[in-house]
Amino acid sequence: MKSKSRLALASFGILVLGFSAGAQALDLARGQRLYNQRCATCHGLNGVPTIQQAPSFVTKERLMQPDMVLVQRVQRGKNVCPPFMGMLNNDEILDVLQYARTMR
Ligand code: HEC
Repeated sequence: MKSKSRLALASFGILVLGFSAGAQALDLARGQRLYNQRCATCHGLNGVPTIQQAPSFVTKERLMQPDMVLVQRVQRGKNVCPPFMGMLNNDEILDVLQYARTMR
């Protein structure tokens, strides 16, 4: 039991490390390119959604969540928002989210 929870803690640590390593390599230009290619159709080039159900990235309410939560959501998709698992890796998704957070 004890070693199991220690193992879980260790893998969580590795996961956090992986995410923070990605966060250090943020590339806004890449984020913008990927955003324009993959997300702008629905979320709008400037973060003003083109479809009613999509959240605005200008107001940012849905972006006020931890990176890990948002990365998972983008990987798995949510209702109309398609899953990007296998298309975008963690680093790329973090770049896209960081770019979306710059929208005014
Ligand atoms: C086909 C249209 C479409 C595309 C393409 C799309 N989205 Fe979405 N997205 C949506 C819709 C609609 C929602 C609202 C989902 C809901 O809450 O029901 C959403 C929600 C979200 C959310 C909020 C999730 C939450 O916590 O509620 C994020 C973040 C997001 N999208 C990011 C992205 C990113 C990043 C991309 C490109 C890599 C992308 N989306 C591409 C339609 C789209």
